[in-house]
This record gives sequence, C-alpha cells and structure tokens, in this order.
Amino acid sequence: MDRRRFLITGAAYAAAVLAAPGMALAGKGGAVVLLPKPVMSGGKPLMTCLALRHGNHAPGRGEVGLPDLGALLWAAWGINREDGRHVIPTALNRQQVAVFAVRSDGVWEYLPAEHAMKKVLEGDRRGSFDNSGLVLLYAAPVKDRFSAMHVGSMYQNVALYCASAGLENCVKDQGRGALDRELPLPAGWETLITQSVAPGK
Ligand SMILES: Cc1cc2nc3c(=O)[nH]c(=O)nc-3n(C[C@H](O)[C@H](O)[C@H](O)COP(=O)(O)O)c2cc1C
Repeated sequence: MDRRRFLITGAAYAAAVLAAPGMALAGKGGAVVLLPKPVMSGGKPLMTCLALRHGNHAPGRGEVGLPDLGALLWAAWGINREDGRHVIPTALNRQQVAVFAVRSDGVWEYLPAEHAMKKVLEGDRRGSFDNSGLVLLYAAPVKDRFSAMHVGSMYQNVALYCASAGLENCVKDQGRGALDRELPLPAGWETLITQSVAPGK
C-alpha cells in the first residue's frame, strides 16, 4: 500500500493545505497538525554543530515547542527537493522509514509530504521510555539490511539540529517495541532506536 495514502486521508490533506501551522485539523483516524516550516537560514554553522554534538543521558522533562519539533522532524525525515527526495539518503530511494514523536499530548507520526504530524495514539506514553520531554521513535523494516543506516542518518541529523538549537538529546535503545503493536506500522516494521530530546538546561 502507498504509505502516504495509508497515513493521511484525502479530506484531511485537502484541509491541511489550507490551514496555518500549529492548527489542529480533524482528520479521519486522528488530528493532523501542520508544523512550522524550518528556518533554512538559521542556526549555527555546520562545523560548530559538529563540534558541539553530544549525547546527554538524562534530558529533562521540558516540552519541545512546535518550531523546534518541526525543525527536528524535518531534519530527520523532511523533504528537501522538488522531486520529493529527503534530507537523508535511502538505499535505492525506497524511503522505508517512519518517525513518531511521543509527546505529552499523544503519539504523532510525521508526514513529510505535508510537513505535518498526525496523531496515531492518544495519551502521554513517554512513561514507556525515559520520560523525556519528547521521545522520537525511528521505525523501519527490521529485515532490510539498510534500515539501521537509515535511522542512523536520522538521529545524527536530529543531534546536529539539537547542537545548533541548544537542545539536549540522547540516542537510546529503550522501550523498543513498547508501542509497536499499537502504531500504524506495515508488517515487518519495528521501532529500531529512539532519541530523547528536551530543551537545554
Ligand atoms: C545506537 C545507539 C544506542 C544507544 N543506546 C543508549 C541507551 O540505551 N542509553 C543511553 O543512555 N545511551 C545510549 N546511547 C548513547 C551512547 O551511550 C553515547 O552516544 C555514547 O556514550 C557516546 O557519547 P556521545 O554521544 O556524547 O558522543 C546510544 C547511542 C547509540 C548510537
């Protein structure tokens, strides 16, 4: 099944195109929130971000605001070209990855084509992980030998954005699979790794 069609209904998409960032739209199967576009001219120089990149094993409980969330998700799996290709490369451009944001207000799937997120689970599920302000889940086909490479590209891009924006983050092998049965994952897909994020202290 075409993944984008699976994820967002036509009605929700049509409404999303007309809506402002941050606006929640009632879509079939879950609200859709348009994310603010990342500021492409912002942030620290790349070499500074590389120099600052580090993991913090205990990010705080503070929530990550929508501007940073939009930028983080775009850094992980956004589309950066007119032809629909992504910020990260994928083998044969198969694009078989998914990112979920576990927040206090539910679990959201990133929709790269719309630069939006769709609620896929209700409630605060961060307790299944380390209770950080935001937990990102990176999912992909578990038997694809390229999947680990793909999710590694995603968490590194997010780590660099965190270095740029002064956010704390840590890649974590935690609670893996805790939500997989409830997430809208195609057969054979699993959460391979997570990344906890919070505002800097
Ligand atoms: C694939 C992967 C899995 C990791 N799993 C955990 C983990 O479960 N718990 C944790 O506290 N840190 C975890 N880390 C973070 C590493 O411990 C950390 O990156 C390492 O100590 C190096 O520190 P740095 O990221 O600050 O360079 C993981 C990192 C990677 C790349």
